[in-house]
Parts: sequence; C-alpha cells; structure tokens
Amino acid sequence: MTQTEASYHRVPDEVPPPPSGCPVTGFTPFATDYLADPYAVLDGMRDTPVFYSSELGYLVVTRMEDVSEVFLDPETFGSQNVQDPVFPLSHAAQAVLAAPDFNPVAVMSNRQPPDHGRIRNHTKRGFSNRRMRILEPYIRRRSHDLADALLAAGSPADFVPVFAHPLPGETIFRFIGFPTSDDEKLKGWCSDRLAFSWGKPTEAEQTEIAHKMLAYWRYCRDFVAAKVDDPGDDFTSELLAVHKADPAELTYREVESIVYGLSFAGHEIVSHFLSNSLICLLSRRDQWDQLGADPSLMPAALEEVLRFESPQTSWRRVANVDAKVAGVKVPAGTNIFLSLAAANHQPDIFENAGEFDIHRHNARNHISFGKGIHFCLGARLARLEATVALEVLAEQIPSLRLVEGQSLERFANITFRGPRRLLVAWDA
Ligand code: HEM
Repeated sequence: MTQTEASYHRVPDEVPPPPSGCPVTGFTPFATDYLADPYAVLDGMRDTPVFYSSELGYLVVTRMEDVSEVFLDPETFGSQNVQDPVFPLSHAAQAVLAAPDFNPVAVMSNRQPPDHGRIRNHTKRGFSNRRMRILEPYIRRRSHDLADALLAAGSPADFVPVFAHPLPGETIFRFIGFPTSDDEKLKGWCSDRLAFSWGKPTEAEQTEIAHKMLAYWRYCRDFVAAKVDDPGDDFTSELLAVHKADPAELTYREVESIVYGLSFAGHEIVSHFLSNSLICLLSRRDQWDQLGADPSLMPAALEEVLRFESPQTSWRRVANVDAKVAGVKVPAGTNIFLSLAAANHQPDIFENAGEFDIHRHNARNHISFGKGIHFCLGARLARLEATVALEVLAEQIPSLRLVEGQSLERFANITFRGPRRLLVAWDA
C-alpha cells in the first residue's frame, strides 16, 4: 500500500506513551461486558471523564463538552486516523492492497482541511432535498418488498439478512447510480468492511476483506469511467459534472474515491440503526403501539434511538500538536477515542438517561452524527431510510415482536453497535 498524506487506508503511525498524570485503565471496547452493555460499563467510569486505555493505546474522552470541544477544533485534533485498522494489517492483506492500481485517496472523514472543505462542498450538494425526494419512493417500495419477504420467510425470521442489511445497501447503490443487476455482487464486496478498520479480524479474514476492497475499488473505477460517457440522474454524474467544469476543484481520483467510500459509510451502520430501532421499540410495546397509531411521532422516536442505542458508539481523532483535553496535557500524536455512547447517556444533559422515551424533549441533542466540519453527511439519508422503513413495518406488520429469550450477539469492534442476528415474530 503506497502511503501518502492523503492515502485512504493508512498504516498507523507510532503512538507516544500515555500522557503523564492521566489515569491509566485497562478499558477496552472488545471486553465481553462492554459488548453486551457499553452503557453500564461507561456509567461506572463517570468519575473519570478522561483516561488512557493501555489496551487500546488511546486517550478516552467521555463527557459531551469535551467530546464536542475536540470535534470543533480540527486544527488541533485531526481525523486522519478515523479509517485506520485498530490492529496492524497482516503482510498478506498489505500485499493485496499494494496492487499498483489500488490508489483511492482520503476524501471525506479522514481528509484534512483545507482540501476537506473543498471536497465536502461539492459532495454535500449530492445529498440535496431533491435527491432525497427522488430516493424516498424507492426506499418505500423496497421497504414494502422486504416486509413481504419477511412475511414470506415465515415467523420467526431473522430481520438482519432479510431487511436490515439489504435496504441500506440497495439505497446507497441507487444513490450512487450502480445498476440493480450488480446488487448481489456489490453487497458481497462491501460486507465486513467495518470489521476491517474497527474490528479484530484474523489474518485470513483481513486478507479476504482486502481482496473484496480491491475488487470493489476496481468496480468503482470502471463504473465512474462508464458514467463519463453515459451520465444519468445520479450522484456520480453530479460529481463528474463538477469535475468536468473545473478539474482542479474536484479531481477525477477524488470522484472515484468518493464513490468508493460512500457505500461503506452508508451501509452497515444504517443496518445497525434499523435493528437497534426494533430492539428499542419492540421491547417497549406501548411505545411501538403509539407509533402505529401516530406515525408522525416516528422522527422523534428515531432521535431517541440514536441517543439511547446508537449504531455508532465512538469516533477517533489524533492530536496534531501538543494539546489539552479536559485539563490533561496530551502530546502530539496521541490517539483519542471519543465515547459518543458515554456522552449520549450523560445524566446532567439527559434526564433519566438510561431510560428510553420517544417523547424525550432533547433527544436530538445526541452526538451520534458527530459535530463540526465532519458532521455526518448522510444524516438526512439515514433518518429518511429509518423513518420510512419503520413506518412501513408498523403499518404492514403491526404485531411484529422480538422473539423472547434470544441473546443478542454483537460483532467485536471499537465503534459500531448492532446485532448479528435479530429474531422477530408476528401473528399469522
Ligand atoms: C445512523 C446512521 C449514521 C451514523 C450514526 C453516522 C455517524 C457518523 C459520524 C459520527 C461521522 C463522523 C462525524 C465527525 O467526525 O464529526 C460521520 C461522518 C460521515 N458520514 Fe455518517 N453516519 C450514519 C449514516 C451515514 C450515511 C447513510 C452516509 C452516506 C450515505 C454517511 C456518510 C458519512 C460521510 C461521507 C461522513 C464524513 C463527512 C466528512 O468528513 O465531512 N453516514 N457519520
């Protein structure tokens, strides 16, 4: 893998020792108790709002005000580490990604100012109200199809492969402009991407995922090249139009790399969002029934899901210079783990923070989409997908419920949270 400042996939830098005077703990998001219930673990650590995890080699920040301060100071705290694999890549995986034509560049979450702002200005236009209006009927139609598929599978069924995984994947593929005929191939290539950067894949798994990433990158390049000659009403064609008007404003490689990064950014996390929504709502029948009776409550209910059981529980930054976080002096190069989960359950911001309440007045003050210059570009799309999907499920399968007694298994990683399987049942 060729390493440049703007490489999409970096080989992580050497990390400095723990900041002096900072409490050191053995905290790790891979611990069984954290994977089962991160909120209980983090509640037990509220007396120490900033500490160093010797297991991760990261400074952990848990208070909303400190997390926000780091997000809002991109000069001091860079985001170049957000896509880095947590553990070193095996030689075999590195060899796969060393293919001379594997050369995506960092374009969004891990790109630094001033280029980040230039690229984001063009990318964000693609997430316009007009594009959302074009996508909404598609999302609704597919939600009905997938609800039918769930019914056809018979009660009980696993919600994840039948509904939660396909809907966001196919939505982002339509957004980009990929043809429906390639959906199955694309879903295969894009799966497990979260495990690569945020999990603990074995060497064999790393290599397998690296092969899929390479195949997917090559597909993206061919797809963008074909769109140059045959543009359509899609996001990729919009980006290519910007590039054509002024190649210095948005380079051709940046267009290819945006397409490459977007299907990762917008797929598995939304699958988790859909599953987590069902976990929260179906286990509180009265709240699910209220949504069935009054669908206008759905957007507020989903904000509470994002606060209470976010599909993203952390994000990363790195100190570009010697800095201070929550009064602790941190040397340049220190990796920082921002606990969005802890901030979203902070008791002095959210009353009875450990309770789920679709009527919570300030649920929208959660920090699950980040803050500042990198604020999630897909927030509107994620909200739209979940609103439509849940409305359709509440309307089409009102008796939907969780299968009692199932134990939910979450895949081990530092950032994303959602069940591998989610068994649901309904009245025949
Ligand atoms: C519930 C679902 C989602 C959650 C919780 C989420 C969360 C986040 C977070 C925490 C960030 C980093 C923000 C920061 O550094 O300040 C982010 C960035 C980003 N997200 Fe999302 N995301 C979701 C869905 C999506 C979707 C559906 C897309 C695209 C279709 C998307 C595209 C992006 C992009 C492109 C960035 C980088 C923005 C930038 O660097 O300027 N996300 N997201």
